Parts: sequence; C-alpha cells; structure tokens
Amino acid sequence: MSESIPAADTLSRRTFFNGTAAVAGVGGLVLGAGGALAGTAAKAPAALSDVDLMAQRATLSYPFYGGHQAGIETPPQDHLVFTAFDVTALTAVELQLVLAKWSAAMAELTAGAPVGKIQPEREQGIPVDTGEATDMGPQGLTLTLGFGPSLFDERFGLEKFKPLNFADLPAMAGESLNPALMGGDLCIQACANDPQVAYHAVRNLARMARTAVRTKWTVLGFGRASAGAAQSTPRNLMGFKDGTRNASGGVDFDEHVWVGDEAGQPWMVGGSYLVARKIHMLIETWDEDPIGDQQSIFGRDKKQGAPLSGTAEHDVPDFHATVDGTPVIAADSHIALAAHENNNGLKILRRGYNFTDGLDSVGRLDAGLMFLSFQKSPEQFITLQRKLGSSDRLNEYIRHVGSGVFAVPAGIPAAGSYYGKEFFA
Ligand code: HEM
Repeated sequence: MSESIPAADTLSRRTFFNGTAAVAGVGGLVLGAGGALAGTAAKAPAALSDVDLMAQRATLSYPFYGGHQAGIETPPQDHLVFTAFDVTALTAVELQLVLAKWSAAMAELTAGAPVGKIQPEREQGIPVDTGEATDMGPQGLTLTLGFGPSLFDERFGLEKFKPLNFADLPAMAGESLNPALMGGDLCIQACANDPQVAYHAVRNLARMARTAVRTKWTVLGFGRASAGAAQSTPRNLMGFKDGTRNASGGVDFDEHVWVGDEAGQPWMVGGSYLVARKIHMLIETWDEDPIGDQQSIFGRDKKQGAPLSGTAEHDVPDFHATVDGTPVIAADSHIALAAHENNNGLKILRRGYNFTDGLDSVGRLDAGLMFLSFQKSPEQFITLQRKLGSSDRLNEYIRHVGSGVFAVPAGIPAAGSYYGKEFFA
C-alpha cells in the first residue's frame, strides 16, 4: 500500500467546494486511480496459491470498475458496515462533488490504498486519511452505493431521473419501525474480510463529505448470513444455516437481480435495488423454544440445515410431502412461505449479516439480522414480506426495526466517470 496518493491529496476541501471545475479534476483522479486498480485486481487471486489463508484474504481485491457494482454478486465477505446518509448540501453542485469524490475514493479504498496522506510532512498538516487501515490490505473490500427515493425530490432537481415506481417501502405487518433507523438519501454497503477495513472506508467517505452529508443510521454486521458460489453456508443468530437457497449464478441474476429497461433510466441498467431491514430477534424467547418447534418454524433441520422433507442441506424441499396427512414442511413455516416454488418463481438475492448492539434498555440481548437483499424491483421484496409479515411463524421471535430501499446504479464501466454523472450533464 502506498503511503500517499498525490492525486487524492490534490482534491482538497477547497477544490471540493470550487464548483464544476473541480468535477473535471475528480474525473482525472478516477482515471489515475483506475490504472493502479486494474493492475491490482488482475493479479490478486491467481498469484496467491503459496501464501497462507490470512494473507490471501488480506490481499484479495475485487475490481472496482465494471458493468455492475461489486458487493452484490461478490461472494459475501465476513463483515459489514452499512450506513445511510442524508444530504445536507443545498446545491446540486455540492451533491455532484460528493458523488465524484466518493467514486474516486472508493476506487482507492477497494484497492487497499488510503484516500490521501496519512502522515503529512508539515507538523501542522491534518491527515487526509485517518490511518487505521494502514498496511492491512484490501481485505476483499467492496463499496456499494445506493440512492434513496428522497434523493430524487425537488432539492437537487433530480425528479426526472427517478426510476419508475421507486418509492419508500409501504407499511407492512410485522414492523415496529424506529424512525431513526429509516430511509436515507444515500447508502453505502461496505463489506470486507476485516471489520476495521470496512469501518475505515465508511468513516473516511463520511469524513470527506462531512459538510454535505450527514450519517443517518448505521449497522455493523458480522458472520455473513448468506452464501455465495463455493462458500459454505453460515448460521444466523438463531443457530440455523442461512443462505442455503438463494438467487445464484448468471441466469438468476439476469432474471431476478439486475435491472434492465424497466426502471426507465439508463443509469439503472445493470443496477439493482437494495432493501435493508434491521431485524431485531427476541433471542431469549427463541432460546427457550423446543428444537422441534424451532425446526418446524423454519421448515429445516437445525444441525444439517436439511429441509424437513429431506436429509441433506441442499435437498430440494418437497412442500407436498405429508405424514399421516400432515405436511412435513408446515405451510406457515418460513421456507414454505418464502420459496420460489410457492411464489410464482419469485427470487431475491439475500446478502445479510448478523448484528449485535449489546444490550437493550432492560438488559436483553440487542441483536438480530441485518437483512440485505438485492432484486430487480422492490416489488419482489414487498410481495415476500407482505406474505411473511402476515403469516410467518417466525414473526413471534422477530421485529423489523429499521428499513430502507435504495436504487443501486450500474457500475462505473471504466475510470474517468463517477456515480450519478448522468444527473448533472
Ligand atoms: C430475522 C429474520 C430472518 C431470519 C432469521 C431468516 C432465516 C432464514 C433461514 C434459516 C432460511 C433457510 C435457509 C436458506 O434457504 O437460506 C431462510 C430462507 C429464506 N428466507 Fe429468510 N430469514 C429472515 C427474514 C427473511 C425476510 C425478511 C425475507 C424476505 C422478505 C426472507 C426470505 C427468505 C427466502 C426467499 C428464503 C429461501 C426460501 C427457500 O427458497 O427455501 N427471509 N431464511
């Protein structure tokens, strides 16, 4: 990792607020960063067969530039920092500069580089990068940016860029939402194999835009609660394997995850919609529930993760199997309600994480699932959640407390551009 990135340093706060001219400068910075990144991304995974697992994980980097943003199809990393922001800037130019500056910095961060000088030469110099990820490597960091429906209100004149049918999620059963954990004009999903690297990225992005955006809500996640291709299935805090059946592979992604023309916005072609739900678990109550009931609630065996109609984790659930006339997988179990077989083929990509916030005000465990899903239309989530919220036996043990929906633009195809550039042409 280099000690400083001269190009990023030149993008001082003064430049940031210097109007449109600065955006051209930012474009140049992206170009510089992209050259460095392309090399890093190309050589990382293949050259690592003789190093140990830790070093491999540290040096793993995913390409920043491409048709889709990283952090969606990317095999889930171990840690998450999810943060939603409100834009406090008063002008479109300030917003434009945040997006340009973030895009450039994201390219640096995902390559494992700092966003500027960690140790300025002058005694009075203020570090540009806060420094806590120094020498830690990229750690598979991905940074996924989303735009909330509120970004497209009248403040910045972006109404005509709003995707079709893009709105805050409707109220649904099973919610106990906290207004402090809802919405946001922007969001960043930072995932990495080291929590400090993910935290450093969001901290520095927030810091460089602090006069233009305000952090609204944030969730630190661990123990990924989903699996990508070739990954073993992890467990959620209820002790069940989570992520066994998920959208996967090219066809599922094209059919269920990547947005095409239907959003009516060229900038969304190749993008997706991110639904974020902070779901509190009533863990003490769950822990006293007999194993038979726990398994019947999910429709799966706890240890193997097998559907109750089968013996191995990846057996296809048989929702018609009965014993003495009683369905083996209860019709109101979580998987019976959520499975694509019972929802006209509907799938979503779940990419959530466990979270804990310590104890609540009365000393109970404050923990649960930071549910994150990607889909080509928010309607996919709404359809599933309407069903789950009204009938799922799991509802007795969970409360949805935080919520947001974000339009995730397509990736930046190559250096020289930035997220949202189309808004300001
Ligand atoms: C704290 C809340 C939740 C927990 C603990 C949870 C846990 C689980 C578990 C253990 C499975 C079975 C393993 C697997 O196939 O991954 C599963 C499956 C699934 N869940 Fe959830 N889930 C939660 C919330 C949700 C929500 C909010 C949705 C969508 C609205 C959802 C959608 C699904 C889907 C689509 C499946 C796959 C069903 C199948 O095809 O068999 N889950 N979940």
